[in-house]
Amino acid sequence: MSYPDWTDVLDIGLPILDDQHKQLLAVADDLLNAIARDEGEAALKDTFERLKAYTRYHFKEEEAYMTRIGYPGQSEHSAEHVLLLIRVNTLWRLIESGQIVSPKGISLFINDWIVEHIMHKDAMIGEYARALRQP
Ligand SMILES: [Fe+2]
Repeated sequence: MSYPDWTDVLDIGLPILDDQHKQLLAVADDLLNAIARDEGEAALKDTFERLKAYTRYHFKEEEAYMTRIGYPGQSEHSAEHVLLLIRVNTLWRLIESGQIVSPKGISLFINDWIVEHIMHKDAMIGEYARALRQP
């Protein structure tokens, strides 16, 4: 997976959140590249911390957006964010312990972790927001 792999299926129709999703995938791509180039643990950890920090920032922003529009599925969605943050920490443990070493392994994990969430859960926020704008 890489940033240019962004496709319309990931577009939830809300430019602010779409831009953040692109940024999130770009940081995830940096992590894949750091692994592919075998840049060493310090560089890897640095990139990983950026991924974690951006994920936290993005989830906060998305949660604030859900509050603003009164999204009815907010508590369930926020609970999934908590699980995703736990999973990103698990990813680091798997990398650190050498259980996931290939970019392919990371790519599969990230695909499951970010892409699935955007396509299936974040897309519902976009649908709700669009319905609100209907006359
Ligand atoms: Fe989300």
